[in-house]
Formats: sequence, structure tokens, C-alpha cells
Amino acid sequence: MGLLDGRSAVITGGGSGIGAATARRMAAEGAAVTVLDIDGAAADTVAREVNGRAYEVDVTDYGALEVAIKDAHEQMGGLTTLFNNAGNSNMAKIHQWDLAEWDRVVRLNLTGVFHGFRAAVPLMLDGGGGSIVSTSSISGTRPAAGEAPYAAAKAAVAALTATAALEYAPAIRVNAIAPGMIHTGLTDILLTGFEWTVPFMEEKTPLARIGVPEDIADVVVFLASDLARFVTGQNLVVDGGMTLHGSGVDGLYDRFQALTPPRKD
Ligand SMILES: NC(=O)c1ccc[n+]([C@@H]2O[C@H](COP(=O)([O-])OP(=O)(O)OC[C@H]3O[C@@H](n4cnc5c(N)ncnc54)[C@H](O)[C@@H]3O)[C@@H](O)[C@H]2O)c1
Repeated sequence: MGLLDGRSAVITGGGSGIGAATARRMAAEGAAVTVLDIDGAAADTVAREVNGRAYEVDVTDYGALEVAIKDAHEQMGGLTTLFNNAGNSNMAKIHQWDLAEWDRVVRLNLTGVFHGFRAAVPLMLDGGGGSIVSTSSISGTRPAAGEAPYAAAKAAVAALTATAALEYAPAIRVNAIAPGMIHTGLTDILLTGFEWTVPFMEEKTPLARIGVPEDIADVVVFLASDLARFVTGQNLVVDGGMTLHGSGVDGLYDRFQALTPPRKD
């Protein structure tokens, strides 16, 4: 018997990293899984592995996301579980953010999550309810220099989660997960491109290692399952204790800045 037997899940950003690990873990626990990703080939590969469906979708495009989620709902015969997970960022000081890049980061990390709620909630309510998990970040709970639009958007995901938990209780439980430093496609360049980043991060982490996507996937499955039946509106930090003593990535941006000549603007 699996923790998610009989559930039907849609996972955005499911083609890589945390989303892909969660697709595998949810399928192993008995869920039917649909993988949505802007990278259609990556979504396809993961969907094949979990015997699920794939859609090439940009979560910032509401119309396309709604069509994909409606179709997934029809194909799976229901929708009980949504993992709003697509996201990424860049780094810059606030006055140096390119205006269009600021908008892109906020639209992807915050509006993309709102789009997921908007498209999925009516279907989930019609089907009797379920569980929604969205990926925030320790950047939202303990922001560091260099991450302004990402940190602000991820903090807003926690607020959106609380609002949604109130609006849709008791039918839908709504939670967020705030990962620490996890080795994925997003962070690979940081973790493998410089010899000092891994020891720098490990030293800041009481559990003394960089996370792996499965560390997050297991907790998403917990939040999506009946084990978390009395948990709603929470933003659960899963960071090996990294932010117990301050911002996890504090100092990282300054060290990168020291490697490159400062910009003139
Ligand atoms: N890796 C970390 O340390 C870390 C820490 C905190 C939060 N997060 C968050 O975790 C989530 C997953 O990131 P990851 O680390 O697994 O990175 P990843 O790059 O491995 O996976 C992200 C996936 O999202 C997809 N994606 C990007 N833009 C998209 C869009 N507009 N529409 C649909 N799909 C899109 C990518 O193609 C990719 O497959 C993100 O929201 C990220 O902000 C990651």
C-alpha cells in the first residue's frame, strides 16, 4: 500500500531536480503523475519513467497552463494533488537588476504559482478536495544579498499559501516547502563551478552536507499524503538546519562579486 494510492498529481517543473525526484517518489507511493515543464523533452523523459503524462508548458502562460491542467485532469480521471514547483533566479544587487529580468523572476516564481492555484483549485474542489504544495525557498524566509526578486517572490509564495489554506479549508490542504541548498540543475553551476562553494555551504549546515532532490521529495510526499492530514497553511523549511543561525547563502554574492570587476552602472 502506498501513501498516495488513488491520487492524481500534477507537478510543474517536473522535468528536473526537485520536481523530477518528487514525480518518481509520488509514483512509487501509488499516485498517477503528470509532469509539466517548459522543457518538453525533460518532462517526457520523467513522465516515461513514472508511467505518466507530459506537457510542455510555461507556467507564466496562464492559458497554456490551464489547458494542460484541464487535460491532465481529464486523462487521469481527477486531480487531487498539485505541486507548484517551477522556478529559478539570477543574482544581482537591487539597483542593478535588469527591469525585464526582475519581472521574469517574479512572474515565474510567484505568478506561476498563482496560475497553478487558479487552474487547479476548481477541478480539485469539484472532485472533493486534495492537497497543494508549492516550492518556496529559504531565500524567502532568510533572504541573502543578491536575491531580491527571488526572495520577495518566494516570501510571497508563503503568504499566498497561508491565504489559500484559509480560503479552501477544509477541502484542500495548502502548504509550501522551503528547500535549503539542494544539488539540482539550478545550483549545479554554483556547486561544481567553484571549489570553495561546497565547503562554504557545508560549514553553514548543521547536518553537514548539501541536500539532494530526494530530501525535498520525501517531505512533499508527506505534505501531500494523509500523514499531514492536520497540517495546512505552513511553509516548511527543509535545509539541514542551515538557516538556524542566519541566512544560508549570506556572503555568497559578495564572494562572487569579488571574482568579477564591479559594474559601472
Ligand atoms: N535547488 C535549490 O537549492 C533550491 C532551493 C530553494 C528553492 N528551490 C526551488 O525549487 C524549485 C525547483 O528547482 P530545482 O532546484 O529542482 O531546479 P531545476 O532547474 O533542476 O528544475 C526546475 C525545473 O523547472 C523548469 N522550469 C523553469 N522555468 C519554467 C517555466 N516557466 N515553466 C515551467 N517549467 C519551468 C525547468 O525547465 C526545470 O526542469 C524552484 O522553484 C526553485 O526556485 C531550489
